[in-house]
Amino acid sequence: MEGFPLPLFLFVSTISTLWLTSTAISTISPNQNISDGQTIISDDEFFQMGFFNPSNSSTNRYFGIWYYKISVPTVVWVANRETPLNNTSGVLTLNQEGTLMILDHSNNMIWSSNSSLTANNPVAQLLDTGNLVIRSENDINPDNYLWQSFDYPGDTFLPNMKFGIDFVKGLNKYLTSWKSVDDPSIGGYTNRFDSDGYPQILMRRGSEVEFNSGPWNGLRFSGMPNLKPNDIYTFGFVFNERELYYKYELVNNSVVSRMILNPDGRIQRFVWIDQAREWRIYVTGQLDNCDRYGLCGAYGVCNIIDSPPCGCLSGFEPRSPDEWRRADWSSGCVRKAELDCEGGDGFVRRSGVKVPDTRRTWFNVSMNLEECEKECLRNCNCTAYASLDIRTGSGCLNWFDDLVDIRSYAEEDGQDIFVRMAVSELDRKAKAKRRVRVIVIPVLVSVTVLLGICLFVYWKRKQRKKNGVNNIVVVRENNNVANEKKKDDLELPLFDFNTIANATNNFSDESKLGEGGFGPVYKGILEDGKEIAVKRHSRKSKQGLDEFQNEAKCIAKLQHRNLVKLLGCCIDDEERMLIYEYMPNKSLNSFIFEEGKRKSMDWSKRYTIIVGIARGLLYLHQDSRLRIIHRDLKASNILLDKDMNPRISDFGLARSLEGSDTKANTRRVMGTYGYMAPEYTIDGIYSTKSDVFSFGVLVLEIVSGKKNRGFRHANHDLNLLGHAWRLYKNGKQLELLDDTINGFYVPSEVNRSIHVGLLCVQKYPEDRPDMTMVVLMLGSEIPLPEPKQPGFYTERRRPQEAESSSSNPEWSSSNHLSVTYLQPR
Ligand SMILES: *[C@@H]1O[C@H](CO)[C@@H](O)[C@H](O)[C@H]1NC(C)=O
Ligand SMILES: *[C@@H]1O[C@H](CO)[C@@H](O)[C@H](O)[C@H]1NC(C)=O
Ligand SMILES: *[C@@H]1O[C@H](CO)[C@@H](O)[C@H](O)[C@H]1NC(C)=O
Ligand SMILES: *[C@@H]1O[C@H](CO)[C@@H](O)[C@H](O)[C@H]1NC(C)=O
Ligand SMILES: *[C@@H]1O[C@H](CO)[C@@H](O)[C@H](O)[C@H]1NC(C)=O
Ligand SMILES: *[C@@H]1O[C@H](CO)[C@@H](O)[C@H](O)[C@H]1NC(C)=O
Ligand SMILES: *[C@@H]1O[C@H](CO)[C@@H](O)[C@H](O)[C@H]1NC(C)=O
Ligand SMILES: *[C@@H]1O[C@H](CO)[C@@H](O)[C@H](O)[C@H]1NC(C)=O
Repeated sequence: MEGFPLPLFLFVSTISTLWLTSTAISTISPNQNISDGQTIISDDEFFQMGFFNPSNSSTNRYFGIWYYKISVPTVVWVANRETPLNNTSGVLTLNQEGTLMILDHSNNMIWSSNSSLTANNPVAQLLDTGNLVIRSENDINPDNYLWQSFDYPGDTFLPNMKFGIDFVKGLNKYLTSWKSVDDPSIGGYTNRFDSDGYPQILMRRGSEVEFNSGPWNGLRFSGMPNLKPNDIYTFGFVFNERELYYKYELVNNSVVSRMILNPDGRIQRFVWIDQAREWRIYVTGQLDNCDRYGLCGAYGVCNIIDSPPCGCLSGFEPRSPDEWRRADWSSGCVRKAELDCEGGDGFVRRSGVKVPDTRRTWFNVSMNLEECEKECLRNCNCTAYASLDIRTGSGCLNWFDDLVDIRSYAEEDGQDIFVRMAVSELDRKAKAKRRVRVIVIPVLVSVTVLLGICLFVYWKRKQRKKNGVNNIVVVRENNNVANEKKKDDLELPLFDFNTIANATNNFSDESKLGEGGFGPVYKGILEDGKEIAVKRHSRKSKQGLDEFQNEAKCIAKLQHRNLVKLLGCCIDDEERMLIYEYMPNKSLNSFIFEEGKRKSMDWSKRYTIIVGIARGLLYLHQDSRLRIIHRDLKASNILLDKDMNPRISDFGLARSLEGSDTKANTRRVMGTYGYMAPEYTIDGIYSTKSDVFSFGVLVLEIVSGKKNRGFRHANHDLNLLGHAWRLYKNGKQLELLDDTINGFYVPSEVNRSIHVGLLCVQKYPEDRPDMTMVVLMLGSEIPLPEPKQPGFYTERRRPQEAESSSSNPEWSSSNHLSVTYLQPR
């Protein structure tokens, strides 16, 4: 101590004492006793633990964890569920080896944490997640915890908990109900992952299955259509050799949510409503009678809006029509025609369903649907197949048993399954369909034509009366910049100017959604309540007319779930407006680049969006009647519908190519910095491959949550493309992933997305894959080629360099979003 100035010593010692007491609150050290009446509170005061009594009527004392700030006592975990103390003389203590114990009045151990691991300086700590952990004093790595209460959940599934199986440690973390609301001892119900076949979560009463969540289908569990992206929590599923789990995280800790298996066997998610001071049910697992496991027996289908709810799959009939009539459907259905494996069977597709129990299934994540069908056909015991991931249609699941617990949903809430069927049955169906078509179609056609004529005449009269414009809008192609020869007329519903003015509150500032390249965009509500987005082309812009006609023409012909839908247009004097369906979630831009919202974009959502954009673009390039090049694909042009599906919008710059042409040249280079391909920016050559480049940039932006343009990195001067490529070259591409996605993603999907993104941004168009290839690469496990160096990967320079450089003038200064300039040909 000599030579150490006293005041400084005092100062240091005060600091360390303060530090000790402030951290000591949430921790227990060896030989420290927590007796009944004392409690421990987590650092940020989310949770508290101690002895408690769940009801007034009994004197039983339990040690547990509950919310600290929530006024209704809500216990989330109990240690001695089966061994209550009968008065307040119990203590909780941590021994030198790191085992937590509850001792009664005569020092008998009535509960212990039972870990086989030991540590030298153990501490027990209550974390702000509600997890009670035992760890070495200096080691906060979760992988090294000796024990944690999250591994032994009771009836409550908390955020950040991994619900499922740790294959390495041999732990199965599942829920068990309480006996009653005031008795935490183990009740009759369990809810746990079953990993026979492809995993699903089974809720059992004793050993009887009562509810089946269905297998994970890439978006949700097949039998839980209400598990949808929302503002309160993000969720995900992980399944590999090491672990299998489902997990959710709160988007904002100020909105508290928990999930429980209640004593009656209901799976319920609650959200705390602070104002009302109560827990409200947010969703329940079991929706209705159709969620009773196997209600309709084998090959039966439950549809809650039918009466009776049970029916048979097509090609099947009730096994016991008598029982069926008495509303006992449990014996299920049988085939009308027996299978004939040697003679060759076929499959019938059933859409919009919850797939059957997967306990007797086989799966392969890398097969596609075609291979899956072959695999099923090969094995005579295979009764049905389906894809594992409905986002990409990849993966294969084969059933080897009677199909039990199928239910029918609205198309978009369910998925497809392909049921094995005798060829004779398939033939009969085909014939029946043909017969129906022969009779029905001529009748239908003539009725439709008549109806059409009537409506048309009526509508035309009405239009004439209404606004003097006595014609349907005819948008004529007069753009000869690109090599288009088709001059087709186009019919589009016409909106009256006054209607639109009323709907948008006279184009008020409040209803303005934003400003596009050619004018403002407004939100409007039509008289019938329908929400619309109105794109008003500014009068001044000379270029507007071309773009307007172009966009109307393009979009009116395009119908795809990943493209925004044009409802009509409005022309009135100088006014030119396009009327779109309104997208409540605005653009991707506002989700991936905005601090607060980024966290709600979990990996599964981002991947769905990447695949959706790819499909929309593939449609534009290949599948639509016209071949469309978008030319201005960027995050702000991707809108999100209410289910967060991406919709490509803004066709103001789109060009269609005729027939087999895939490339064209323009003098007017338009687009957005950071997304334009090198050959387009420099030589004005655009092709589907320049869209592919923009798509690649978009993928890397979605993965990283960073903009290509304006990207900054401390260690180098590369833009986002260069940064991604550099990480890829060093095998560290996972570091590109947005850090708001903390540890909650499927690495193979992330790797594949980055790899495909890099292939798309390669410098030379001929090296880039086309969109058919991109969709295939995203949806399967086919080997991918090595990406070459990206185009434009060092554009961002230090200002002094930019000034002295002459090669790429367009990159050096401007902050404008769009660029237009003339390029001599
Ligand atoms: C903790 O409790 C145990 C058992 O009741 C007792 O033997 C021990 O002395 C207590 N330790 C402290 C520090 O109070
Ligand atoms: C238990 O006792 C508390 C106060 O002692 C009272 O407020 C509460 O209503 C009682 N609960 C029941 C279920 O009797
Ligand atoms: C209290 O519990 C102890 C065991 O922990 C038991 O031996 C005793 O009989 C119980 N006493 C009462 C009054 O229930
Ligand atoms: C708890 O019960 C035991 C006997 O069952 C008794 O010895 C002890 O004093 C009681 N403690 C309290 C705090 O009532
Ligand atoms: C403690 O562990 C042993 C073996 O690891 C096991 O048999 C026993 O059931 C466990 N006890 C509790 C209460 O978990
Ligand atoms: C899964 O399918 C792929 C592609 O058909 C095949 O290469 C692979 O061996 C299969 N894996 C298993 C385990 O059958
Ligand atoms: C089909 O199932 C039967 C009986 O369940 C079994 O004996 C047979 O080995 C199975 N065949 C194949 C190819 O799995
Ligand atoms: C969380 O919610 C609170 C209260 O609504 C809000 O003030 C805060 O900004 C939110 N935090 C984030 C990261 O969105």
